[in-house]
Amino acid sequence: MQSKELFSQRFAVFRSEAGVASVLGATCPHLGADLSRGRVCGEHLRCPFHGFEFDRAGRCAAIPSEGRPPPRAQTRSLPVREREGLILAWWDEHGRAPSWEPAALETQGWSTLHTRRFELRAHPLSTSENSVDLAHFSSVHGFEALEVLEPARAEGPYLSARYRFVHRFARLPVENLFRVHLWGLGYSLVENLTPSLGLATRLWVLATPTRPGHMELRVGTSTRTRLAVVEGGEQSPWSPAIRGRSLGRATTELIARFALRTLAADVSADFDIWSHRTHVERPALAKGDGAIALYRRWARQFDVSPEPPANPGPTLHTLRARA
Ligand code: FES
Ligand SMILES: [Fe+2]
Repeated sequence: MQSKELFSQRFAVFRSEAGVASVLGATCPHLGADLSRGRVCGEHLRCPFHGFEFDRAGRCAAIPSEGRPPPRAQTRSLPVREREGLILAWWDEHGRAPSWEPAALETQGWSTLHTRRFELRAHPLSTSENSVDLAHFSSVHGFEALEVLEPARAEGPYLSARYRFVHRFARLPVENLFRVHLWGLGYSLVENLTPSLGLATRLWVLATPTRPGHMELRVGTSTRTRLAVVEGGEQSPWSPAIRGRSLGRATTELIARFALRTLAADVSADFDIWSHRTHVERPALAKGDGAIALYRRWARQFDVSPEPPANPGPTLHTLRARA
């Protein structure tokens, strides 16, 4: 059981005895006790005050006294999807049902998911915008020789782009091929290929608004290793052209942990900027800034106020990572 402030409201996040994850509004509709201080009873969440029990849809399913549960005994329930080691919850201010979700990923042959969580002052519009902010890759992260392989492209709630750049490890230049996938403002995935190491890495950056102007930022990594160098990687890095023997489970997990450290360090370099950034409605963009204008047009569909208090529109957010 976890008690979480999400979108400026308190929620109870719990797993039923059958293992199903649920997210319910934490204010008991009976007399206002905090449901996140209750306990799980079978498939229900039991209020610590008078013992009303709520099912995963937020309906009161049982009361300890005689009679039927009051019809108005209903708390908010967020639609939940558990995938690839993540619990994703759909938030829509008006309670509309989910209309999309990120594309499913093949997990066979991949390491487990390794995650780290940060709390910071930032806005999801800022954290996602970095995916297309080409200039900041060198000025903030020190990436070199950045090249756009596929320009940013938006389609409904999805935005993607593909880059090549050089990242230095202990001063050794390592080429990386990045494919960025944004699904709404809460879910960002980078598929990274490092041809010289025969290494594929998935990097998640997941923003969940908590109280106004603040978020929980979760980063995650998973890796897949091959001994052979990728053939034709430039054209199609995710094709079956990745050949060779896997390095073995333990090594793959170790590399995923190392990738997490690197990702956490890279993302941390953005924190101070995000925390003190002001939304500029009409930015003075320079050549080489990347697809900022396209990103902002795309982001409008989520109906998010750019300034705190955040008013998140329909989007998916990660509540908890299960390694
Ligand atoms: S306040 Fe929850 S059952 Fe009474
Ligand atoms: Fe960044």
